Amino acid sequence: MSAIKVSLRNVSKVYGDNPAASLALLRNGAGRDALFASTGSTAALDDVSLDIPDGGICVLMGLSGSGKSTLLRTINGLVAPSAGQVLVDGVDLAGMKQKQLQQVRRGGIGMVFQSFALLAHRNVIDNVCFGLEIAGVKRSERLQRASTALEQVGLHAHAQQFPHQLSGGMRQRVGLARALAVQPSLLLMDEAFSALDPLKRREMQDLLLSLQREQRRTIVFVSHDIEEALHIGDRIAIMHGGRLLQYATPRALLSNPADEHVRAFFQGVDTSRYLQATDLIDHEASATAAASSPATTAQANSPALAHVAAHAPLAELLPRLTDFRAPLAVRDASGATLGLITAASALRILSRSGARI
Ligand SMILES: Nc1ncnc2c1ncn2[C@@H]1O[C@H](COP(=O)(O)OP(=O)(O)O)[C@@H](O)[C@H]1O
Ligand SMILES: [Mg+2]
Repeated sequence: MSAIKVSLRNVSKVYGDNPAASLALLRNGAGRDALFASTGSTAALDDVSLDIPDGGICVLMGLSGSGKSTLLRTINGLVAPSAGQVLVDGVDLAGMKQKQLQQVRRGGIGMVFQSFALLAHRNVIDNVCFGLEIAGVKRSERLQRASTALEQVGLHAHAQQFPHQLSGGMRQRVGLARALAVQPSLLLMDEAFSALDPLKRREMQDLLLSLQREQRRTIVFVSHDIEEALHIGDRIAIMHGGRLLQYATPRALLSNPADEHVRAFFQGVDTSRYLQATDLIDHEASATAAASSPATTAQANSPALAHVAAHAPLAELLPRLTDFRAPLAVRDASGATLGLITAASALRILSRSGARI
């Protein structure tokens, strides 16, 4: 198992005058709306626990107002939790002195926002240098690191231009380069691509994925766009009304949504792009087959049985299920059978996901 980069433990955040009293009301069963009506306080996060592994992209996904930005900001100490703990690399941010916290923010944690937040009077390379200046890096090294970062985002040729001369997509690349130049081990991105048109957004997502292949950082990425979450997320945390509803891989979310709120996000999503044969294994049928007789197990492993590769995409799989009354065996690369898929199990899992097929 990989190491945990960020750990949130029972984190709550109430915006308002008396967070402790508000939390007590919440614990006594007051809803978020009732709390706001009686105290004017907002429970932005309600008892969220989440472990983010080192070296992957974790997407915080939810509707506007669900607490995503607040959660993200607890990770770099911009928001102090009203209750609970936030550990980065095992260290509790609450225990840090202001100066230590600033150091962590400047060196170890980078942040990219939706609004490009570029300095209008500085050219591109000086904008990229900005974070390094704050971190106290000397000029020659600043320029070198900034130009490497600009190359990474494909903007090297534009180093001398000013923000107003750039398109939205280019400005967002500058924002990304500025964060990358600091070489943070943890990158926080808040709706970083949401202001871009769909084509540019996709381009930036792919850029992020390719950067991630070269250098595996831990990225926590806030988005309200489920397609974006499914495309870039190794894991997705679904937020609703300040609570964490489900935290799982994209495929696990699609094949097994925890409740109606999670399901609702997948309406209209083209499942066939994400689900694979292993996600449709009928675990009950497979277990029964294995238990009922050694002969059935032997049959499941028989080379003669129709089979699919574990990673076969849904699009390849579905036509075959209509052809066979018998189950399909799902085999891994070594030829071992991982389980069986029946038409009934496939339909059950797909209808549960609430997704379009
Ligand atoms: N500084 C603040 N003061 C008061 N309420 C806030 C503040 N920041 C956020 N909120 C409230 O907390 C809730 C969660 O907000 P936010 O974390 O920004 O959600 P999201 O990023 O998912 O849209 C919202 O109801 C929002 O109005
Ligand atoms: Mg937000």
